[in-house]
Formats: sequence, structure tokens, C-alpha cells
Amino acid sequence: MNILFSKDSYQSVTGNTVILLLAKDADRSTLPNNIQNALSLHDFKAKAGSLLFFPSFGSIAADRIMIVGSGDGSMYDLRIAVRAAGHKARASNITEAIINGYGFNDEQVHATISSFAAGNYRFDKYKEEGKRTSAISSLTLLLDRDPPSVEEAKHLLAGRTLCRDVVNAPAAEIYPESLAQVALSLQSEHISVMVWDEKKLKAEGMGGITAVGQGSSKPPRFIHLHYKPAGNPRKKIALAGKGVTFDSGGLSLKSSAGMQTMRCDMAGSGTVLGVFRALRDLQPDVEVHGLIGAAENMCGANSFKLGDILTAYNGKTIEIHNTDAEGRLVLADCLSYGSKLGVDAMVDLATLTGACVVALGNYYTALFTNVESLSEQLQTAAGNRGEGMWQLPLPDFYKPMLKAEWADIKNVGGRAAGSITAALFLSEFVTDTDWAHFDIAGSAFYDKGFQHFAPGATGSMVETLCDWICS
Ligand code: BES
Ligand code: MN
Ligand code: ZN
Repeated sequence: MNILFSKDSYQSVTGNTVILLLAKDADRSTLPNNIQNALSLHDFKAKAGSLLFFPSFGSIAADRIMIVGSGDGSMYDLRIAVRAAGHKARASNITEAIINGYGFNDEQVHATISSFAAGNYRFDKYKEEGKRTSAISSLTLLLDRDPPSVEEAKHLLAGRTLCRDVVNAPAAEIYPESLAQVALSLQSEHISVMVWDEKKLKAEGMGGITAVGQGSSKPPRFIHLHYKPAGNPRKKIALAGKGVTFDSGGLSLKSSAGMQTMRCDMAGSGTVLGVFRALRDLQPDVEVHGLIGAAENMCGANSFKLGDILTAYNGKTIEIHNTDAEGRLVLADCLSYGSKLGVDAMVDLATLTGACVVALGNYYTALFTNVESLSEQLQTAAGNRGEGMWQLPLPDFYKPMLKAEWADIKNVGGRAAGSITAALFLSEFVTDTDWAHFDIAGSAFYDKGFQHFAPGATGSMVETLCDWICS
């Protein structure tokens, strides 16, 4: 998507489609007469994301006009409105759009670029050529002043798009080895990538990733990305991502319906890759480690079993009570490894629990942390980027639910507080670092479209994490 700027007014600019954002309380009397008429004919209330699209009939110089309600004019409603415009543009095969951004501040310009692209995105490479819709090629923003730099917005967009593409890709295309290939493709001046194969995993004692991956014909991988800035890093952090490229549930087999979208179960790792794609060009003065536990959780002759006892990378033993609680097993190894890197903070991301979707739905990422300052920083970053985040508690006194008979811990805590006990399980593998856990089971992938995101991967948390890292 090319981003262009112009100081033309929306009345005089020429082109195919001009997008006008209209807040509920906006003064409509200055709009061309036939636009005013159309608005009242349709009883247009300017609710965020509501939309009218029609030929301009000469009322302005451009051929068509898209009026989009921007609700109360808040950043939240602006994002909804612009995403709706991006969505509609895609459905209408519009390749060049112009948005009237007169009066926008820098934050509004950046949010407009991000949200338009987010709504415009589709995963349609497997559709017949004639049935694919056209992505936007250029977005022109009309500004009544000199434009701000949009380099950062472009890098974030590239990262988010990479994330959405790998998460949407079917499991036949993205499996542990090919996921590692994506990571390797990000190697560059400041990014190095190391991959452990199944033999190395076993030799190093990564019992969680090994067990989850052993039932599949596609062997597991551990992937370590490392971004090192040119100068002395201000901080060191680690991001760990669940990379279950397909989750059948293993021997604790899921239902067909429950399995349908489980190619998305590597979204945590997709987000880590998206962040690294952005870091490659953002080049902040922070050192970042990306840790990915990649495995395909399958049901087969060699699958790990109920009652098995695994040993994670930090030496703790885990009793298996359900092979469908596999994300925490691959993360146990990643978090143990990350705890040895001497980082100031570590954040993990995982489509970890169905319970999280039940509790918070699609909009919110569940945040867990014991470190209040980290919670504030991450929630601020999410707020800056218009992404939903809700903190859930991490009470020590629920830990007994994970007490095992024969090993140090068991991998499920029972029906109650499923997302919390999963997070408490993870906390057992974190030492000597501030830590936060994002359960992105709802926010990473929308089975049906939602808030003008097409069905599928959302790329949520790529921008939030980059915001946090860069600040
Ligand atoms: N990948 C799933 C969680 C999930 C469910 C993500 C729906 C996205 C949408 C995870 O591996 C899983 O199966 N969790 C189990 C845990 C249970 C066995 C303790 C669950 O949530 O049912
Ligand atoms: Mn599972
Ligand atoms: Zn899973």
C-alpha cells in the first residue's frame, strides 16, 4: 500500500473515491447540497463504521464518495470507521482511495493508515484469480498541513501483514520446519536466527516441545531470533510465542468443529515473527529475543500419552492429564530458556485457552502479570494502538489446582478458572525476570468477521508490542 499526501481539498481532488469521515456532532451545513440530501434521505446517524457509498454526480471533482460515520470522534470510533472504509474498499475492488484528513493530528494520521490497511486485508491467495478482490494500491491522505513521517506506520504494517499471512496459511503450508524458514528469512544486519531440530531438542532437554511434536510426521523445532541494535541496548527483552502449527488435541482429540480453525494455534509465534519483521526496519535501541516452540499436535501411534511425565528445559517434571493442554508444554521450554538470557522482561503470547474466549470474547487479549509496572506499560501500549487488553488475576492460592500425584506439576487445573490456571502453570517456568503472559485465543483469530476485520487472523498485538519495545 503506497501512502501519499495532498493538500487538495476533498471537493477539488480528482480520483476514483473520496472517503469523508463524519462524526455524529459534525456540522453538515458546509457539505455539498446533494450530499446533505443523501444523508437525510438515508437518515444517516454517523454511527461509527456506518457507511454510504455513491457516485458524486458532480458535487465534488472525484467520481465517487464514501461517507463513513466516525461516531463520537474518539480514536476508538475513528479506527472502527476507517477499518470499515478499508473493508468496503476491498469488497468494491477500489485500488486507489483518498481520505479527507483535514484537521488530523499525527496520531490520527497513523491510526488511519493502520486501520485502513487492517480492514482492507484479505487472505485470498488460494482463490481463483478472477474471484479475488483487489487490494488497495495507494491511499492518499488529504491534510491541511505538512504530513508527518509514516516510516514507522509502514514497518508496523509489514509486520502485521506477515503475521496475518502466516497465521491464515493452512497447516499443510505452515508446519514447524516451514515456520522456521519464515524466521530464517528475517535474518538481516541486526537479526540472527538459530533453529534446533528434533534431535537437538531432545539432547538439550526440551521435553515439552519434543512430546507435543512426537505424534506428527512433521518434526518439531525450537526457533531463537535475536535482534541486536547497533549501539548499547537500553533494555533487553524476550518474546515467546506458542507455535502449535496445528492442534488436533492429540490423543485427547478435539471435535471436528473444535479443530476447524486450529491452524491458528501458532498465532503467538506469528505475532513474534511479525514483531521481528517490524524490528528489522524500526531498529530500536532495545535488544530483543524471539523464542518459538513449534510443534504439530497430532493423534498418532507415536503421540505422547495421558499419564506421561515430561521434563521441561528447566528440569521440572510435568504429568500429562490432557494432551490438548499442549500450548503450555511448548511454552514451558521457551520460558525456561528465556529465563536464562538475563533479560529485563519477558512476554509470552499464546492462543492458550478456550476459556479465554468464553471470558473475554474476540476483542480483548487477556493479560496476566505479577509486575504492576509491566501491566501499566503494556496496557498503555495497547491503548496507544487501539487494541483491547484486559488484565486477569494470577492468584498464588489457585496453584494447588495444578498439584500432581507423581510429578512436580500437572498440565491441567480443572474446569474452573481455565485461563488463570494455564497462566499459573506458565509462571512455574519463569525465573529471574519480569514476565507477562498474553492469552490471545480470542483476539488473534476471528472465526467470523468482526468490527470490519475479515474472518481469520487479525495480527493483533504486533503494534502493541512494537509500541512497548520502542518506548
Ligand atoms: N489451542 C487451544 C485453545 C484455543 C481454543 C485457542 C479455541 C483458540 C480457540 C488449546 O491448546 C486447548 O486446547 N486448550 C484446552 C485446555 C484444556 C484441555 C485444559 C481448552 O481450552 O479446552
Ligand atoms: Mn490444545
Ligand atoms: Zn492449542
